[in-house]
Amino acid sequence: MRTLRDAAADADVHIGAAVDVESLRTNTDYRETVAREFDAVTAENAMKWGPLADGESGYDFAAADDIVDFAARHDMYVRGHTLVWHRMYPEWVRPWARSDTEMRRLLSDHIHTVAGRYRGRVDAWDVVNEAVDDDGGLRENAWLNALGPEYIDRAFEHAAAVSDADLFYNDYGADGLSAKADEVYDLVSDLVAREVPVDGVGLQLHVFDDVVPPADVAANVERLTDLGLDVHITELDVGIGEAVADRDEQAEYYYDVVSAAVDAGVDTVVTWGVDDGQSWLPARGFGDAPLLFDEEFRRKPAHGAVLDALGE
Ligand code: G3I
Repeated sequence: MRTLRDAAADADVHIGAAVDVESLRTNTDYRETVAREFDAVTAENAMKWGPLADGESGYDFAAADDIVDFAARHDMYVRGHTLVWHRMYPEWVRPWARSDTEMRRLLSDHIHTVAGRYRGRVDAWDVVNEAVDDDGGLRENAWLNALGPEYIDRAFEHAAAVSDADLFYNDYGADGLSAKADEVYDLVSDLVAREVPVDGVGLQLHVFDDVVPPADVAANVERLTDLGLDVHITELDVGIGEAVADRDEQAEYYYDVVSAAVDAGVDTVVTWGVDDGQSWLPARGFGDAPLLFDEEFRRKPAHGAVLDALGE
């Protein structure tokens, strides 16, 4: 039976899923579905600083290595997620107790350690994640407080110094045409203008309360590619509830938004999870059954819709 991976190869795009390392290690159906249907993976949590941390300033790379090794065995494109974020850094960092100089060093050491380790094995990094505040401007976080806006430049420069991966800015709520999408556009335009080594933008495209019009996604992708940037859809999921009423409407939207994004120039689409049993969305009350496979790893109408969208 034709797989998403077959269709993606024919369309010359990557189709991926965010993977949970324990499921990859212990669930045969999960592992086989990922290897059969996808040619790209993102570490859902294993490459975040918190999960990597082992004691004070130490690292335990076992989980991240397992994901990268799995991807290598199955000739998969790897998206590293994420080097600099306001969430999930280790408790020992204690930014409020650090001088600006110490925070600057921590930022540099972390990126050099992690991005350097996976040089040649991670193809794209979400270098900075969710730096734009929902109300406009830069999100107040430990890095902004310590280094000012230049923390973003430094993050990309450190990553570029130790990695040959494509370097992405990744965010949510900036998928279509919105005030936040304009903020992200302005941010990356400025980075490009100042020759900060950014290669692309990740549009997370979490859909739960209302759908993002596919035409707006396409327009946003086009203006970003006009800057010379790649655009990935990095965390696609469509919760059944508010945004779409049932699995058929869900499939229609998956078809429309993936078609529009790929036609506009997106060359990588990653769903935020493999099966509905593993998704973060329902637990947050953001809609149900958002992915392409149900809890028993059976293909849903959304799977066929993405297959058709890639087969255009
Ligand atoms: O691994 C621990 C486990 O040992 C512990 O018993 C358990 C209960 O405290 O927590 C487990 O860690 C959880 C982790 O997921 C792994 O399951 C964290 O508490 C929980 O906060 C974490 O949630 C993740 C969240 O990011 C925060 O990092 C979600 O799985 C993940 O889907 C979500 O993904 C984010 C992207 O990184 C960025 N974009 C938004 C997206 C959705 O929030």
